Amino acid sequence: MSRFKAVIFDLDGVITDTAHYHYLAWKQLAESQGVHFDHAFNENLKGIDRMGSLDLILASAPRSYTPEEKLALADTKNLHYQELISTMSSNDLLPGAVEALDAVRRAGLRIGLASVSKNAFTVLGRLGITDKFDYVVDAATIARSKPDPEIFLRAAQELGVAPADCLGVEDAVAGVAAIKAAGMFALGIGHPFVLTEADVVITSLQQFNLSAY
Ligand code: BG6
Ligand code: MG
Repeated sequence: MSRFKAVIFDLDGVITDTAHYHYLAWKQLAESQGVHFDHAFNENLKGIDRMGSLDLILASAPRSYTPEEKLALADTKNLHYQELISTMSSNDLLPGAVEALDAVRRAGLRIGLASVSKNAFTVLGRLGITDKFDYVVDAATIARSKPDPEIFLRAAQELGVAPADCLGVEDAVAGVAAIKAAGMFALGIGHPFVLTEADVVITSLQQFNLSAY
């Protein structure tokens, strides 16, 4: 039994470890522009859309960039990222991810995906789990990146469920903030010291227990 009517999952870093591929692609791009890049800085980029992430990186660059140069750099990063994800398969599902999705389904709740990644449909396809979602938000139709609640509110609306009846699952600080701003219950995947706004934090979906929240 669950007090919720829907569960809305983030993708990168929750269902699969693409967060690591984003890290590698951004690191190469940042260093090509003379910007130091490490895991601590990358934490600020999780859940932030492509151009927003690029702006945060280039804020530390020694020079300024034209809008055309920025678009070219974003394309370079994305091509590298797409190369990294091109060999993904169901082997890249994080432990507990399929079990969590199946548990939500068995409990009769609706299932949504709220990722700001424009590669989300490709990644879901490579993982072989597209059919497990009732609704996947198309990031190309979202105007404001997390921490804005827009993407979670859109998912709830399309699933036909009130935000207060939704459980959101996120690994990013910005993502947890988006869930809370949407008026939902936030389940964090990661460390409580980092995801301080989350209602509950677990280390991975292996610990997912719908009836406990
Ligand atoms: C988010 C990731 O899910 O998607 C970010 O956490 C990433 O790291 C963002 O930048 C945008 O992804 P994409 O695939 O559209 O460049
Ligand atoms: Mg994420």
